[in-house]
Amino acid sequence: MCGIVCYVGKKKAKPILLEGLKRLEYRGYDSAGLAVQDGNHIHCFRTTGKIIELEKKINDLDICGTTGIAHTRWATHGEPSEANAHPQMDQDENIFLIHNGIIENYHTLKKRLEKSGTVFRSETDTEVLAHLIALNFDGNLDEAVRKTMAQVEGTFGLAVIHRHKPGEVVVARRGSPLIIGIGKDENFAASDVAAMVRYTNKVIHLNDNELASLSDEGITISTAQAKTVERATETVEWQPEDAELNGFPHFMLKEIFEQPETIRNAIRGRLEPGEGVPKLGGIMPVWEKLKECRHVVIVACGTSYYAGCVGRYTFEKLTEIGVEVELASEFRYRKLNFPPNTFIIAISQSGETADTLAAIREAKRKGAHLMGIVNVVGSSISRETEAGIYCHAGPEIGVASTKIFISQLTILTLLALLLGRHQKLSLTEGVEAIKALSALPDQLKRVLAQDNYIQAVAEKYYRWNNWLFLGRKYGYPIAMEGALKLKEISYIHAEGYAAGEMKHGPIALINPEMPTVAIVPKDSMHEKMLNNIHEIKSRRGPVIAIATEGDEKIKEMADDVIEIPQTLDYLYPILCVVPCQLLAYHCARFLNREIDKPRNLAKSVTVE
Ligand code: AGP
Ligand code: GLU
Repeated sequence: MCGIVCYVGKKKAKPILLEGLKRLEYRGYDSAGLAVQDGNHIHCFRTTGKIIELEKKINDLDICGTTGIAHTRWATHGEPSEANAHPQMDQDENIFLIHNGIIENYHTLKKRLEKSGTVFRSETDTEVLAHLIALNFDGNLDEAVRKTMAQVEGTFGLAVIHRHKPGEVVVARRGSPLIIGIGKDENFAASDVAAMVRYTNKVIHLNDNELASLSDEGITISTAQAKTVERATETVEWQPEDAELNGFPHFMLKEIFEQPETIRNAIRGRLEPGEGVPKLGGIMPVWEKLKECRHVVIVACGTSYYAGCVGRYTFEKLTEIGVEVELASEFRYRKLNFPPNTFIIAISQSGETADTLAAIREAKRKGAHLMGIVNVVGSSISRETEAGIYCHAGPEIGVASTKIFISQLTILTLLALLLGRHQKLSLTEGVEAIKALSALPDQLKRVLAQDNYIQAVAEKYYRWNNWLFLGRKYGYPIAMEGALKLKEISYIHAEGYAAGEMKHGPIALINPEMPTVAIVPKDSMHEKMLNNIHEIKSRRGPVIAIATEGDEKIKEMADDVIEIPQTLDYLYPILCVVPCQLLAYHCARFLNREIDKPRNLAKSVTVE
C-alpha cells in the first residue's frame, strides 16, 4: 500500500520527507509526490515511478520550508500519472492534500462539485477531498477537514496543508493507519512508524474518525464531533537501524537471518520453564473466557493464513480445542453461526489488512470474542480486538513475510501450550515443550549455516518454470508457504499441495523439468512422505528434500537434501520453512528480481 509522511518543525522539511518516503518504499507504490510550505508559498512536486525520480527533480532546489507532506501512491482510481499523483489540489491551489484509501462516494461528490463549477484535473477519487476542504474552509483548517469527513464515505488516512495556514498540518484517519510522531519543537505524522523512527520513538495512534492539527508547538487531537481528545504517547520498541540493511543485500535476507532473534523476541519473558507454562500477559483481559473456550476460528490472509494452518495442528496436538482456519477474504461471506464462547484469532503482521479487519468486524457482530496476533503495536486489528499477543519482531521491511511467519508460529505454540497446560497437558509435556522451544534459535542458526548449499541448490533449478511443494500435516502449510515465497519474489509458478493429494491429480504434472520440494522431517508423516518421493522419483521428477539430520533413507532417494535438526513434530514447521525462504530468495536473485519490492505486491493490503 501507499505511504504518508508529514513534518512540521524548525528544520527544512524536504530531506525529512524524502527520507521518510524511502522508509516506506517497501510498502509498494507507483508514483510519489510532496509539498513543502514556506510562508504562504507552497512548492509541490510529483512524479510517476520510484522516489529517485522525485529526488532528481528537487535535489538541486534549495527549498527552505519547514512544513510539508509527502506521499507514495498505489493507484486505485486513475492510472499512475503525474496528474494523478499526490498531493492533489483544489482549483485555486490553496489546498494540498495526500490520501491513503478509497473514497467510496467520490463519483457522486465529483458530479455534484462539477455541476457547481468545480474543474477537476485528475482521475483520482482523492481530488474530491481537496475541493471539499477548500469549499468548507473559512479560516480554520481542522474544521474544514471535519466537515469534509462528514461528507465522505470510504477510507482515508489523509494530510492537508493550506497556503494561508503556514506551519500547520492537519491529519485525519478512517480505516487507513495514521500515526503521529512527537518531537522537540517538531512533530511528524506517517502511515507507518518506520518513516519517523529515526527522529522520534514517541508516537500517538489516531483512532478512526479522529483528526489532529500539528504545529511545531504541539498537536491537538479531536473527534469528528469536535470533541478534544487527550491521548498518552506510546514508545515504539523499534530502533532506526531496524529499518536499515546493515550490510545485507536485501531486507528479506536480513530478516531471514534475524529469525533466531525473532524467536527469542517472541518467547522473551513469556516462559516459566519450571512450570512448563507460558505467560501471555496480553490475553489476561479475556483469560477467564478463553481458558473455557472449546472453539477457535483463526482468520488471516497470505502467509499469516498459513501460520494459522500450522497453528490448527498445534492446537489439536496440545489442547482440547476445535480449530477452524479461514481465509479472511472468504470468512466474511460465510453464514457465521458460532458456538457459545467462540474466540476469533486474527493473525496479521501489519494489523491493517483490510480483509482481516472486515472479518473480525463481522465476527464481532455475530457475537464472537476477538483476539489478535499482531506485529505492529497500536495497529487497527490490535485496537479492535479485546486482547492479543504482539510478535515484538520489529519492522518487517521485505514485502515477502519471513521472520513474522516464524514469530506467528512461535506465538501460536505458546498460546496452545498455555491453554493445553490448563487442560490435559502434563507438567512433563509442558517442560519438554519449553525446552524444545528454547533450543530453536540455535537450531535455526544451524539451518541458516547451510545458506551457501541452499544457494547452490537454487542455482540448479531456478530456470525451471514450475515447482511443486509437498507436505503432510504440519508440513502441508509449509508446502503452501514455500510455494508462496517462491511465487511472490521470483515469479516462478509454484503450487503447495497436501502430499496425500498427489495421487488425486497433481502426479500427472511430474516430469524431469519440475522440481518438487518435499517437506519430510522425521515426524509422524515421514514414512508416507517417503512413499510420495518414491512416486515422484519413479517418474524422474527431481526432489529437493527438507529432512532431519542423519536421515540416511532420504539421502538415497532425493536429488538434494537440506538438513534440519531434530525437534518436536509441532516445532518442525519453524525449522522447515527456512530452507524454503532461502530457496525462494536465491532463485529470485539469480533471476534479478526486485526482491524487497516484488511487482504488483504491497506490504500491507489495506484495500479489499
Ligand atoms: C506474504 O509474504 C505476503 N506479503 C502476504 O501474503 C501477507 O502475508 C498478507 O498480505 C497478510 O498480511 P498481514 O500479515 O499484514 O495481515
Ligand atoms: N485512492 C487514491 C488514489 O487512487 C489513493 C490510493 C492510495 O492509497 O495510494 O489516488
